[in-house]
Amino acid sequence: MKGLFIALEGPDGSGKSTMIKGLEEYFKKKGMDVLITREPGGTPIGEAIRKILLDNRNRSMFPETEALLYAASRGQHVREKILPAIKAGKVVLCDRFILSSLAYQGVGRGLGIEEVRMINDFAIKGIRPDLTLFYHIDPETTLQRKTRKRGGDRLESEGIDFHRKVYLGYLEILKKYSNNVKIIDATKTKKEVLNQSIYCIEEFLKGRKSNETYNRHSPGPGRTKFTR
Ligand code: TYD
Repeated sequence: MKGLFIALEGPDGSGKSTMIKGLEEYFKKKGMDVLITREPGGTPIGEAIRKILLDNRNRSMFPETEALLYAASRGQHVREKILPAIKAGKVVLCDRFILSSLAYQGVGRGLGIEEVRMINDFAIKGIRPDLTLFYHIDPETTLQRKTRKRGGDRLESEGIDFHRKVYLGYLEILKKYSNNVKIIDATKTKKEVLNQSIYCIEEFLKGRKSNETYNRHSPGPGRTKFTR
C-alpha cells in the first residue's frame, strides 16, 4: 500500500494518545509499517520548540509568537519526518496537526482562522493529512481529569473559558474544512472509540481504492497535497 497520513485531533484529554496506540497495533497486525509522531514536536528541533511552548514559565508569550512557533515546529516536522515516511510507504499517525492551530491559536487566542491558516500554508506548503479523525468530547470533563492528574502544562492550565472557545472553534472549523475529516464520539468506551476509528479508516481506504481504479483511466490531482 502507498503511504497514508492520518492526523488525530480533539480537545485536551480527548483520548488521542490511547487511540494512537490502538491504531498502531491495528496497522501492525495488517503488516504495515507505522510511524507515530506528535505536534508540537516530532523532530529534535520540534521537541525543543515544544518545551518552550508548554513551559509554564512562559506565561508572557504573545499569541502571535505562539502561533509562529507551532507553525515552525510543523514545517520542520513535515519536511524532516512526515513526507519521507509517506514516500517510504509508511502509515503516519500524528497526534494533532494544523486543525489544532486553527482552533487553539485561530479561535482560542483570537488570531483568526484564516490568518493562522496562512502562516501554516507558508510553513507546510499546503500539505494536509489524507484523513483526520476528530475525537469529539466536551472539554469540561476531560480537562478536569487531565489537570487533576498531573498539574497541567501551559496550555492545559488555561481556564475553562479558553478550552470552551477552542472546542467551539473546532466545531466551526469542521463545518468549513470538513474535507476528509471524520468525527468520532469520544465519550464511548475505549474499545468502542477504537472500533469507530478503524471503521472510518477502512471506509476511507475503500474510497481511495475505488478512486485509484477510476484515476487509472483519468489521472487526477496528486495525493496528500490539497487546496481548500
Ligand atoms: P499535549 O500534552 O501534547 O496535549 P494533548 O495530549 O492534549 O494533545 O500538548 C499540546 C498542547 O498544545 C495542547 O494543549 C494543544 C496545544 N496545541 C496548540 O495550541 N496548537 C497547535 O498547533 C498544536 C499542535 C497543539
